[in-house]
Amino acid sequence: MNTYWMTFYLLRSYEKLGELNSQFNLVWLSTCGLSEIWGLKFPNPVGLSAGFDKNAEVIGPAFKLGFGFVEAGTVTPKPQHGNDKPRIFRCPEQEAVINRMGFPNGGMNMFKTNLSKFLGSRQRPAGVIGVNIGMNKSQSEPAKDYSVLIKMLGPMADYLTVNISSPNTPGLRDLQKREPLLELLAAVKAERAKSCGDHPPPILLKLAPDLDKAQQEELASAVMEAKIDGLILTNTTLDRPANLPEKFAKRQGGLSGKPVGDKSTAIIRSFYELTDGKMPIIGVGGISSGADAYEKIKAGASLVQLYSGLIFKGPGVVNSINNDLLALLKRDGFTHISQAIGIDSTVERRSASNG
Ligand SMILES: Cc1cc2nc3c(=O)[nH]c(=O)nc-3n(C[C@H](O)[C@H](O)[C@H](O)COP(=O)(O)O)c2cc1C
Repeated sequence: MNTYWMTFYLLRSYEKLGELNSQFNLVWLSTCGLSEIWGLKFPNPVGLSAGFDKNAEVIGPAFKLGFGFVEAGTVTPKPQHGNDKPRIFRCPEQEAVINRMGFPNGGMNMFKTNLSKFLGSRQRPAGVIGVNIGMNKSQSEPAKDYSVLIKMLGPMADYLTVNISSPNTPGLRDLQKREPLLELLAAVKAERAKSCGDHPPPILLKLAPDLDKAQQEELASAVMEAKIDGLILTNTTLDRPANLPEKFAKRQGGLSGKPVGDKSTAIIRSFYELTDGKMPIIGVGGISSGADAYEKIKAGASLVQLYSGLIFKGPGVVNSINNDLLALLKRDGFTHISQAIGIDSTVERRSASNG
């Protein structure tokens, strides 16, 4: 059994445990305040990143583990197997993962059944639920898949993530260009307006870290123009830093974990500056400690997420990140997390609110 499945089954067994997170969330509440963004109350700022719970099967256990929010998916309209195995490779010395999963998932009907079951359960642990959507490998008209997913799952989501940054679906990253992106976001927003009633979920866009300065500028201006609600920075990288073992580095796919950390932080800072701190950012990439999370927040992230850190450090990492982050904020004299957002950027601080 690989580490992914070990952690997945471990999370499932947490279903049997009580409310591990409630006491912990109270600590956040009484010290550094809740993060309220897009009108959503995040019990703490540490979330489970997309890809782990592709079919919305372990949202409850993930909250019980201490995550303040869980992003389920990437879900596609039709079920698909993904790429042939092996498709996940670990490098424990560098705390790195390369994956070329290719969105294996049970499709939107299965996702909806699982999410409905969780939403209908009587003793739901507190936490925000994001739904990360993507297109099937066979789709040549992306807007069709994103629209049908929003129609079916949008009304159930606290927020929606439009994922155009997985390196493992051919053509997906081509959407990270001004014209196709504006077209897609217009379709996404129109479907949200049609299907999501009086409480439309905020729309976030998840981008790759492999963007040069000109591409970052183009995308920042496009997302401001499209008036979406936020960004998730970043997905995995196609880069292969020199210190990776050769055999591991040769694997095809997206690299995550420690080696993507600095690159992702730099992209967060850049987008925070390019959008003048006006577009909330969820920072992800190489986080496995409170210090890593703090770096991302100081660069401009309002919230953080992790995936690979959970694989290498185990389930206790969620609480240790939250505890250490609280200690770091206190050490630096902050009384609310929002006061630290973007302080390592060139954006001039306007107020202590991140709402
Ligand atoms: C095995 C694996 C599968 C992933 N699948 C998805 C996915 O389906 N959708 C997505 O948006 N990101 C996916 N990601 C990317 C993560 O959500 C995250 O953006 C990236 O791994 C960087 O964070 P990390 O260093 O904490 O892992 C996946 C990552 C891994 C390691």
